[in-house]
This record gives sequence, structure tokens and C-alpha cells, in this order.
Amino acid sequence: MKTAPFDVAIIGLGYVGLPLCLAFARSGAAVLGVDLDQEKTESLNAGRSYIKHLGDAAIAEARQAGFQATTDFSLIRQAGAVLICVPTPLTTNRAPDLSFVENTARAIAPHLKPGQLVVLESTTYPGTTEEVVKPLLEAGSGLRAGQDFFLAYSPEREDPGNATNLSEIPKVVGGLTPACRDRAAALYGRIVGQLVPVSSCAAAEATKLLENIFRAVNIAMVNELKIIYAAMGIDIWEVIRAAATKPFGFMPFYPGPGLGGHCIPIDPFYLTWKALEYDLPTRLIELAGEINTAMPEYVVGRIAEALNDSSKAVRGSRILLLGLAYKPNVDDDRESPTYAIMESLEKRGAAVFYNDPHVPAIRPGRSHHHVAGRESQPITADYDVIVLCTNHAEYAEFDFASLGVPLVDCRDAAQKRPARYYRA
Ligand SMILES: NC(=O)c1ccc[n+]([C@@H]2O[C@H](COP(=O)([O-])OP(=O)(O)OC[C@H]3O[C@@H](n4cnc5c(N)ncnc54)[C@H](O)[C@@H]3O)[C@@H](O)[C@H]2O)c1
Repeated sequence: MKTAPFDVAIIGLGYVGLPLCLAFARSGAAVLGVDLDQEKTESLNAGRSYIKHLGDAAIAEARQAGFQATTDFSLIRQAGAVLICVPTPLTTNRAPDLSFVENTARAIAPHLKPGQLVVLESTTYPGTTEEVVKPLLEAGSGLRAGQDFFLAYSPEREDPGNATNLSEIPKVVGGLTPACRDRAAALYGRIVGQLVPVSSCAAAEATKLLENIFRAVNIAMVNELKIIYAAMGIDIWEVIRAAATKPFGFMPFYPGPGLGGHCIPIDPFYLTWKALEYDLPTRLIELAGEINTAMPEYVVGRIAEALNDSSKAVRGSRILLLGLAYKPNVDDDRESPTYAIMESLEKRGAAVFYNDPHVPAIRPGRSHHHVAGRESQPITADYDVIVLCTNHAEYAEFDFASLGVPLVDCRDAAQKRPARYYRA
């Protein structure tokens, strides 16, 4: 029996929150989406998606099922559960920036009602739900977590651009109390096939960080091997393909121009910061960060070598970077290493352009303000060198061989290669 007009309110309608809204709407739940950004809520209520791979049809379908978006936090009073999916970036000094989570907790608290469930989904360090979110919710509501309302943590495993259905991805759930955990598990049971209950919110928070640190460290390893093997005249891509035939004890990771996205370059440093409280270093995380952060400069070095082979300098050259998104076939350019390459080349005096079928123009974001408004350019022979940064499907078949411009390929992606083909 329904006790509230909305089964679930989802705060933060971004890459994580919006797919979650759609999944709950598909399950038949009445969903309220809450965001500070009025442009987003208006766009959704008009049936338009601002995340390309989600598509307008999915939004329209959810709207028909009763989904509505709002900027009005007081409506969460009418929801059985409140899920928090707001950003967790780093400050300029690489400390956790929990201001979005804290502001959300403060905004929810006055509207919290006995019996409601609150779940934090944002990626963060172990202890956040209990040490940061719980006190703010209690202070603002006068209610006690675990007694008057339920509190849990459940990390998101969304993989934007990957067709895997959310319902097929097991979901880890930890609660402040066993009752909190069970309440959250019952809610997520509506949309996922397999739940993975753990003993505490901190264990669930730590699980998410382990998953992302695992990726950061392994990507750093292949990036380091890429440079060493290249010096030895060995093709790292061939080596990885061969190693990946081992049926046990090996999982392929692939090198690239550096880390991008809202997760892998950032999340590991949440643990680094928290570990300081215990006087413990996170040496492997920091080393992986160092190696991965150095990758754009390695690529710039390879670009300079490619130009040098044509008796050209970086200064004054026209360079086209392919792929602004940090991963293939999506429009998410957050933390993209392509920006680092662009900036470094421009500092050296090159004229830099980009092509990205998924990012027709650079949107104003939290960073890279100075390049906002630039537009994707066609791939033509009008450049001194082209650099393939992101392996969008469109580039695999593109005829770089006929184009004849030297190509620096960071992804082993181009099939039709020009005579002057470089890996980076
Ligand atoms: N993007 C991914 O692939 C991914 C995967 C797993 C986990 N995560 C984690 O999920 C969280 C959200 O990431 P995202 O990629 O969806 O971020 P996002 O930037 O795409 O979306 C966040 C949304 O929250 C809104 N917002 C910010 N502050 C708010 C507030 N106080 N109240 C209401 N809305 C607010 C923003 O307007 C934005 O629409 C982060 O902690 C991230 O680390 C992301």
C-alpha cells in the first residue's frame, strides 16, 4: 500500500541520479527528481534529456509513468525514500569537497519525516554517512537516525555509455543499523536483481573506493609499461591482447592519454585524505596518480616527435585533437585528459582544435572556462598532426590513410592508418 505520493525522491539529476530516476520509474515507482539547476528540471519536465546516451524517449516514458522534476526541496516530505546523488569533487588542494553533500543534507533536514529512508549514493570516504550526513540530518530535523528515520549508503555502479542494464548490476548496501540496511535493500530490490548487503555504511563506502582504486592503479601500471615497452620497440597493445588470453589471474587494462571522468581521477584521493587521520600513507594511490597525471605530457612529447619528423615545431603548428569526452561514445568531458593536452600544446604556441561527434561545443563547466564555446571541427587534411585521444566508434573506421596527415594514436583505435603513424 502506498503511504506517500512519491515512492522515491532522487536529489541530483546528473549522470547517476537521472538513470536511477528512469530505472525506478520503469519499475512502476512514483519518482520525484530534485535538482538545484532549474534548466535541468524544466528540460526533464518537457521530456528532454540533457544526457545524450539516455535519450528523450526514455525521459518521455518516465514522464508518462509519473516522473516529475523539481527544484523545490519541500516536496521530499511526500516521498518514502530520499536518495542523494550529488557531486563529490576535490578542492584545488585535492581534499574532498563535501560541500554538495553537506548542502543537500541541510536542504533535506527540515523536510525529513519519521519513517523516511535517506540513502547517500555519492562516492566518498568511509565514515561520511555517519560522520557528516547523519549529524546534519539530525540537527536540522530534530529526528534520530536509526530510530526515527532510516539512513544507509549504497554506491552507484553506473557505467555511462555501456549498454548494461542497471538492473543487472549487483548493488552494495550498508546501513546505520540492520533495519536501515534492510529498508534500503527492499527499496533497491525494486530495480536490481542482486543486492549485496554489507555490515555498515563505512564498509559500503570502502567497497566503492576499492573498486575505483583498483582501476586507477591498474591503469597506471599499463601506462608505465606502455612507455617502457615503447622504448624497447614492443607494442603494449599486442602484449595486452596476448596476456588477456590467460583464462585466470589476469584482467586486461588499457593505456591511454591519462585519466578522465568524475570518478577514477578523483575518488582514490578521498581515501588518501581520510587515511591521514590514521597517520597512514596511501603510497600506491599517490604513485598511480603521479603516473596517470604525467600521461598528457607524454602524449605532448610524442606529438612533438611526430612534428619533428616533418621538420616542424609545436609552435605555430595546427593540431587537431580527436575526442574531448574522457571515454568512448559518451558526451562526458569532465576531467578529460584531452583538455590537459590542449592546454599544454597551446602554452607551447600551437593552434589547437578538437573534433568530437558527442561534444559539438564546449559547455561552461566547473573547469576549462577559457575554452567554453569552442566548437568541434571536421577532420580534414588542414592540420600538421592529428591526435586520437578518445576511441569513439566513429574514429575506428575513419580513413586516416587517405587523409595523409601524421596521426598520433593514444588508443590503438585507428584501423586505416597513415604512413606516419605514432603511438602515444
Ligand atoms: N558519473 C559516473 O559515472 C559515476 C559513477 C558512479 C558514481 N558516481 C558518483 O555519483 C555522484 C554524482 O555524480 P554524477 O556524475 O551524477 O554528477 P553530475 O554532476 O552529473 O550530477 C550531479 C547533479 O547534482 C546537482 N546538484 C548539485 N548540488 C546539488 C544540491 N545541493 N541539491 C540538488 N542537486 C544538486 C547538479 O546540478 C547535477 O545535476 C558523485 O559522487 C560521483 O562520484 C558517478
